[in-house]
Amino acid sequence: MENRLIRDFTKTCTDGWLQGWHERNGGNLSYRMRPEEVEQFRASFRNDEPWREIGTEVPALKNEYFMVTGSGKYMRNVSLDFEDSVAVIRVDETGTKYQIVWGLVNGGKPTSELPSHLMNLEVLKQRDPEMRIVYHAHPANIVALTFVLPLKDEVFTREIWEMETECPVVFPQGIGVVEWMVPGGKEIGIKTSEIMKTKNVAVWAHHGMFVCGHDFDEAFGLMHTVEKAAEILVKVLSMSPTKLNTIKPQDFRDLQEPFNIVLDEKYLYEK
Ligand code: 13P
Ligand code: ZN
Repeated sequence: MENRLIRDFTKTCTDGWLQGWHERNGGNLSYRMRPEEVEQFRASFRNDEPWREIGTEVPALKNEYFMVTGSGKYMRNVSLDFEDSVAVIRVDETGTKYQIVWGLVNGGKPTSELPSHLMNLEVLKQRDPEMRIVYHAHPANIVALTFVLPLKDEVFTREIWEMETECPVVFPQGIGVVEWMVPGGKEIGIKTSEIMKTKNVAVWAHHGMFVCGHDFDEAFGLMHTVEKAAEILVKVLSMSPTKLNTIKPQDFRDLQEPFNIVLDEKYLYEK
């Protein structure tokens, strides 16, 4: 089957692989489908799969359909065999179970991070009904920074913002940080979705990053922007523990009016 959603979903997986963010089965992608997109797949739905526990509750997503990568599947293979790597699932009436209705034709389950994806998609839907994508990757530079920077939202946001003028414009709400936790369950999903109530970027210490977007370009572009700034910071810190020049708190304040953004003063502290 060839359609626009499959094309855009695949492109994101391939682009992330080409960036080096998806070693082995690292990373996963989910999309809350529009009703008309569900209809494009309905003729090839199967209804014989068991209902399985999500492992958390997402009542605001009841009866919705999602396109998600499979657990243990490699992002680099999505373009080679989409129906082996990706599933369409539906959430039941209670928001606690899901059923695979399409894809994963050689068996398997949705990503082990399904609780985090769905909990994020639930708070995002409540924030903005058109926010449909959650993307998780393992970019090396942002992960490297979780070993040397304090694991605080204020510090990560400020240090990353300072690396590129573009950053506060692209993610004015800042970055949330989750300390190391066991991945793949409800607990880390609770922490991450708490961040997604107000922000579009969550960093998982010593693991990776979650971002969201209205469309695939926005989600990918956000991951790319944060990771690029993280790469610059890694280079700067590799050259010197101190900066001779940087973007200062008043410079950030001066960006607000021309770019129509509001930056929380908690990120603009004096150092
Ligand atoms: P999955 O293969 O289950 O999606 O897990 C990859 C991953 O990145 C876990 O955090
Ligand atoms: Zn991961």
